[in-house]
Amino acid sequence: MPDIINIVNYLNSIWKPQEQQGGENRLPNIGYSAVIAGTGFDVPERVLTNEDLEKILDTSDEWITERTGMKERRIAAPTEAASDFACRAAQRALEEAGVPAEELDLIIVATVTGDMPFPSTACIVQDRLGARNAAAMDLGAGCSGFIYGLTTARQFIATGTYRTILVIGVEVLSKITDWTDRSTAVLLADGAGAVVLRADQNQGRGIIATYLAADGSHGNDLYMPAGGSRIPASIESVQQRLHYLKMNGSAIFKIAVRSMADVVKRLLDQARLRAEDIKLVIPHQANLRIIEAMAKLLNFPMERVFVNIQKYANTSSASTIIALDEARKSGRVRQNDLIIMVAFGAGLTWGGVLIRL
Ligand code: ACO
Repeated sequence: MPDIINIVNYLNSIWKPQEQQGGENRLPNIGYSAVIAGTGFDVPERVLTNEDLEKILDTSDEWITERTGMKERRIAAPTEAASDFACRAAQRALEEAGVPAEELDLIIVATVTGDMPFPSTACIVQDRLGARNAAAMDLGAGCSGFIYGLTTARQFIATGTYRTILVIGVEVLSKITDWTDRSTAVLLADGAGAVVLRADQNQGRGIIATYLAADGSHGNDLYMPAGGSRIPASIESVQQRLHYLKMNGSAIFKIAVRSMADVVKRLLDQARLRAEDIKLVIPHQANLRIIEAMAKLLNFPMERVFVNIQKYANTSSASTIIALDEARKSGRVRQNDLIIMVAFGAGLTWGGVLIRL
């Protein structure tokens, strides 16, 4: 029988901690702010217009525009996968932040359409960026994934565990779209957005308030039935079209309006702010009518609600961060402005963050 003590001693003698491991506590636990240092996004080159969809589905530009506000969307090439868009978005965010990839302590990738079930897309991104000191994990919360990711990242920064975190929202929904189902195919699209968060001692800036919620009892209103351990891939699962997104659109619509309005109210209450203090609300871009109904419920003017759904349609967990990057780079928001990002999605999940830029 091998001598266990000798084996353990031997393993201890050859084990050397990796230089600059991301997991160590670098900052004392005094409550740091998570401040946005850079943002970036990337979408596929291929544009699919409503007119293009008219040619393959029983639909019309008029119906899609009136019912959703969407005019065109970006669709990945057959060879492209989530990490391709995620890496480009991340590189842009890192460049703006002036942060070398080796400085990242953690990478969170919010996605339900990663490159493959495992390894995580976050690990693929970590390798491709050369972020050798970063821990990496995927986070699945449907279209709310980016908000869940930001909230998670904020905890690591506030506790002093990590100093620099990359949060990415990426989806390649076109690969799980049933292109024969007009009720979902016109809505879904591809893209990625990324943010670099840094610890800051200025308590007045960065993520000020967060709120997350979920209601699993509505899981079957928005889901992909097969490909997991319940229904693994088989000839039957493919023939029954179970590897595509299924959605009960009208049920989701009502919950989305109510939940997003509720999130905005809660964030304002938490931060003791009024709606007038908020420069811009950046909602998940799922349907212009959902966004308008939410604004109406809140008595919030649409001039202070960001909309880019006409260009990119529903990119799920990428939508709010793509919108934030566009809002920042176009000058709609500036440093010190207060913004709210709010989303809902599969799970069902919903949530929001209030940020002073
Ligand atoms: N073109 C033409 N007609 C269509 C289309 C289309 N693309 N899609 C549906 N229709 C038809 C329906 O068949 C129905 O016809 P019928 O009355 O003869 O039965 C009619 O239009 C009305 O259908 P509704 O479903 O009532 O249309 P509604 O106004 O509710 O809009 C929509 C549907 C756009 C799906 C809306 O319900 C919605 O946006 N829901 C929320 C979707 C969402 O946000 N999902 C979550 C994000 S997806 C994700 O997480 C990845």
